[in-house]
Amino acid sequence: MPESDLSSGVVIRALNKSDQKAWVAARCSLWADCSPEQAAAEVVRILDDNDQLAVGAFDRAALVGFAEYSLHPHAIGCTTGPVAYLEAWWVASSHRRGGVGRMLIDAGVAWGQSKGCSELASDTWIDNAISDAAHRSLGFEAVDRLIHYRRTI
Ligand SMILES: CC(C)(COP(=O)(O)OP(=O)(O)OC[C@H]1O[C@@H](n2cnc3c(N)ncnc32)[C@H](O)[C@@H]1OP(=O)(O)O)[C@@H](O)C(=O)NCCC(=O)NCCS
Repeated sequence: MPESDLSSGVVIRALNKSDQKAWVAARCSLWADCSPEQAAAEVVRILDDNDQLAVGAFDRAALVGFAEYSLHPHAIGCTTGPVAYLEAWWVASSHRRGGVGRMLIDAGVAWGQSKGCSELASDTWIDNAISDAAHRSLGFEAVDRLIHYRRTI
């Protein structure tokens, strides 16, 4: 995957083994219930899987954003398969609104196309207004809303 330069000097490139520590920390910034041990195991699995992609945004040596993608056989609202799926998307608050999120999505679009996909799918929490705005701004359309349930059995 070619590296990309932003005018800000931020570089987008695929994550690799040497990035694991910063990548795990970034995952734990994104997900409040993140377990560092579980995240460490998951990043190893992602790196070993040719059907997943993790890209990072670097400001000098510091990881300031990342996105993870996988292939789904199909996805809600999509009419083709497999579908490239955005699994994780995070930019450090210090670097938001500067186009880093867009570059991370552009990398996923290019990867999905290279895998033969013609659709990119994603999801977010219903109350995450910023994520919703960013998705829509980057060309996503909302296709469904879900309610998750539980009961004791
Ligand atoms: C969502 C997120 C990754 C966007 O990253 P970013 O680097 O700020 O995104 P960009 O600067 O590339 O913004 C792209 C477009 O999204 C929209 N957008 C981004 N942040 C926005 C905000 N706070 N309010 C309204 N629109 C916003 C804008 O239209 C923006 O384009 P513009 O700046 O040219 O107007 C970042 O806000 C983030 O990490 N949020 C916390 C984690 C999260 O919720 N992740 C998504 C989980 S699905």
